[in-house]
Amino acid sequence: MRRLPAVSALCGLAALSIALIPAVTDPAAMASSAARSTASLGGGSAASAAGAAAGQASAGAQKQAVAVGTGGAVASMDLDASRAGIDVLKAGGNAIDAAVATASTLGVTNPFVAGPGGGGFMIIYLARTHRVVTIDGRENCPQACTATMFTDPKTGQPLDYTNASEQPLSTGVPSMVATWAKALQLYGSRSFAADLRPAIATAEHGFRTDQDFQQLTESGLPVLQAYPASHWLLTKAGDPLPVGTWLRNPDLARTYRLLARYGPSYLYDGPLGRAIVRADDHPAITPGNTLITMPGIMTMNDLRRYAARVEPPTHVSYRGLDVYGVAPPSSSGSTVGEALNILSGWNLRAEPRATALFHYLEASRLAYADRNAYVGDPRYVQVPLHGLLDPAFAATRRCLVGDTALTSPVAPGDPNPPYRGCGGSAAPQPLPPEGMHTNNIVTTDKWGDIVSYTNTINFFGGSGMTVPHYGFLLNDEMTDFDFAPPSPGAYDPNLAAGGKQPRSSMGPVIAFRHGQPAFTVGAAGGSTIPTTILQIIVNHVDFGMPLPQALAAPRVSQRNSATSLAEPDFYNSALARQLTQQFGEQFALSTGPILPLDYYPGDATGIQFLGRGLEEAVAEPVRLYGGSALVVHPGGH
Ligand code: DON
Repeated sequence: MRRLPAVSALCGLAALSIALIPAVTDPAAMASSAARSTASLGGGSAASAAGAAAGQASAGAQKQAVAVGTGGAVASMDLDASRAGIDVLKAGGNAIDAAVATASTLGVTNPFVAGPGGGGFMIIYLARTHRVVTIDGRENCPQACTATMFTDPKTGQPLDYTNASEQPLSTGVPSMVATWAKALQLYGSRSFAADLRPAIATAEHGFRTDQDFQQLTESGLPVLQAYPASHWLLTKAGDPLPVGTWLRNPDLARTYRLLARYGPSYLYDGPLGRAIVRADDHPAITPGNTLITMPGIMTMNDLRRYAARVEPPTHVSYRGLDVYGVAPPSSSGSTVGEALNILSGWNLRAEPRATALFHYLEASRLAYADRNAYVGDPRYVQVPLHGLLDPAFAATRRCLVGDTALTSPVAPGDPNPPYRGCGGSAAPQPLPPEGMHTNNIVTTDKWGDIVSYTNTINFFGGSGMTVPHYGFLLNDEMTDFDFAPPSPGAYDPNLAAGGKQPRSSMGPVIAFRHGQPAFTVGAAGGSTIPTTILQIIVNHVDFGMPLPQALAAPRVSQRNSATSLAEPDFYNSALARQLTQQFGEQFALSTGPILPLDYYPGDATGIQFLGRGLEEAVAEPVRLYGGSALVVHPGGH
């Protein structure tokens, strides 16, 4: 999907029913046309213009970026989604239930970054057993995937990234529903059906679209128009819905109801799965549209063999904190962890701020060199995770940092012991393109459990294809694979293969001090996710900013490239000038804007644990029109 031109300067297992599904009849498809015709009364789509004026006045009115209180908390990018989580907490659910309720509702209110068609990674702290676990809910590539699937057979050259991202070929096995079900089965306190209730209600009764909805539609308009099902659901006769439109999605309400009733097998071995495979492999395209040229290669067997997996977290120690993250195929835990290990060698708090930021940028540069060279799906390639997270390996990287910025691309180090010398070994691996948006949800409950969950359908609006009659978009996550190795025949851990998961940047963290939760944070933004998390940690832990300020502060992202991507407030700062003059750091202005309301792809959420049961939920105050932080019992500051 395209980037927009600049337009603005401002910017319970027990109840998880797995029932036999009728093999031939698809109740969803049958019921769908009736629901659609009802919804179409508003004028050609499920939208009604009736709420438009009121919506303009009220959109965002009750959104707040920070909430302090007790009894549980939720932060997400959307008010309706956060409310869904809070309602579940108030009804006795735990943080895992709340995360599923929030994520499924976000799939309704922000279908461009969330919903059943995507995947993600969850990190969970289980207070009763004092354990941290993660759930790998990343999409698999269909079995028919090959290392050359994203090269042009005529030229042998890699396909254009944006064009490939618009194709059904880029859709991986939707893994979100399996992730929700696995989390609830193992750690939830309520049924899947109960936790889907808020999302069903929101989809059924409707919600008011906001500016973020509009700009995300705008960013994906050509591909949304390519599919009749997307055109009718998400646009107004092919244009973005006006801000404040009252939008219902009866198809998605029914999809969630069917999942609630039959369990995930409705997708992974049932009618919904068949509809996904049909839509992906034989896309129904708007007559005359020429954008869609590469159908999908998914089969029911790809869906049947999908399983979300519980995996151990990554761990590093930093300034007395225990920081847990997400392991490969996520690159977040290893990259944030390695960078923190490198930074451990300097006392950032005592350094002049420019020197500390120079060290932050260089640590990130080096960690990304290693990320790009070594991280892939560990079931397919050997990932030297232990080495990447070893402080002794970090020492062999830190010693490369002198008085001036290193020249990128810097070569990766050798993360295999014994760690020797100072420097790089193999040839540098370029940073491949990656989608720029997703979402992070954080929840906690009165028992002290914590969930941080980054999930997405990838590049703004995923593949752009709505599954006909089911009301949700499919992901285009497979373009997170490298399309070709850095040079012909060179080793590349992130080439596509049947059943393999592409490397991800998604991966939130939870940090503990003296065994007690200190904070959790996660972020959106493709390959900027680890740098956003790293910068927030540095802001908070080293520079002493409270979490809301740490999250809101102007961002700068160094990913082993010649320039660091900087938000305008950073780019135009005296610190940036000093970093250039004193240390030779170069910056690129994060412009576009990426979206009209957003200069930077990395909106974040977090929770700070203030002690005595008090928690502070934090969302973005400005980026992407601001997020929503809520607590069960406000107050107590
Ligand atoms: O897994 C990843 O790293 C990306 N596919 C995350 C999604 C994201 O931020 C893409 N944004 N459009």
